[in-house]
Amino acid sequence: MTGISDFIPLASPLAGYFSQKEEIDQSIQTVLEKGRYILGTEVEAFEKEFAEYIGVPFGVGVASGTDAIEIALRSLGIGTGDLVFTVSHTAGATVAAICRCGAVPVFVDIDSNTCTMDPNHLEQILVSITDGKFPLSGIPKAIVAVHLYGQPADMNAILDIAQKFGLYVVEDCAQAHGAQISGKRVGSFGHMGAFSFYPTKNLGAIGDGGMVTTEDSRLWEKLKSLREYGWKQRYISETDSGINSRLDEIQAAVLRVKLRILEKNNLRRIEIAEKYHQALEKQNSVHIPLTQGKGFRHVYHLYVIQSAFRDRIARFFEKNAVGTGIHYPVPVHLQPAFCNLKSVTMLPRTEKVCNEILSIPIYPELSDDQTDRICHLLEQIHNIEE
Ligand SMILES: Cc1ncc(COP(=O)(O)O)c(C=O)c1O
Repeated sequence: MTGISDFIPLASPLAGYFSQKEEIDQSIQTVLEKGRYILGTEVEAFEKEFAEYIGVPFGVGVASGTDAIEIALRSLGIGTGDLVFTVSHTAGATVAAICRCGAVPVFVDIDSNTCTMDPNHLEQILVSITDGKFPLSGIPKAIVAVHLYGQPADMNAILDIAQKFGLYVVEDCAQAHGAQISGKRVGSFGHMGAFSFYPTKNLGAIGDGGMVTTEDSRLWEKLKSLREYGWKQRYISETDSGINSRLDEIQAAVLRVKLRILEKNNLRRIEIAEKYHQALEKQNSVHIPLTQGKGFRHVYHLYVIQSAFRDRIARFFEKNAVGTGIHYPVPVHLQPAFCNLKSVTMLPRTEKVCNEILSIPIYPELSDDQTDRICHLLEQIHNIEE
């Protein structure tokens, strides 16, 4: 029988801290003693290092992933009444950021295998808008493509559609630091990439943090101004849509330490995912997380299975001292804050998937023994009784 001390949580930012404790403690101490706590040399260095990792020239550190999306959209001039296309199967933050700009989110259904935006549905909606058959009058302006669970969305198809309809593309990379398509990292495909450094993410801070990445030096200047009161010059605001959303020095210093092992950690996540795939090979009632196909690198921020019996599986895991979660239990378009939006289209796959998904623990610090324990549970799914 498993004891409570053997409990394997769904996520463990604490384990991440302990794996680099000395370096992290040292980096914090250094900032404390330098005495500059906001937008100093650590933020500047981290912006350069992270942008280089993503494969773009510019990064702008902000206070959260939600702010990163909002500021990215604002830098493109997106505002009241503009239509922004995204998915409903995402963190509510993606949609909240769109709404905070005054824009109207238009929901696109997902591909149920990959849980990311279905480009065919996106195109159908855009065609119906062009033909005047969509019940909304706003102008289509941008797509926020979400790389959910660590899985890149189908960027090649989405970029083709964006070009055809003249739309900007912002990538929501909050769950996908290091995910790739044909060797190119997400956050370098669209006009901008928006990242979160929430503590449980593949690259997680010890508090909130975010970053916008871009290749465009003009957008870079705008982003820097928007994150700090609309200033170009200190104390002189050039725009009234500027906010206070700065990444602080302590977070940046810790993130620099963690960035050094991000690739190693992503490889460990992929290794664990492969063990889970194998353990699930004979479980006919469970869909394993499928990647889009060749060239797509999933970095398993979450390992999400799909099963009509997911509540039973969750109880079985719970009984065996392993945590699980649901990302996300209610699609955004059905949540109280957003269910009255007139822009909602039919989203049958989004609504079906949320009743079947179950996230199981996956993080680099899981030991081989813990991974084996989880695999053993996965192999027994067909035997679970109510
Ligand atoms: C897909 C997605 N987008 C946006 C966000 C928002 O990031 P933050 O919590 O840093 O504001 C999150 C974080 O949970 C997320 O998972």
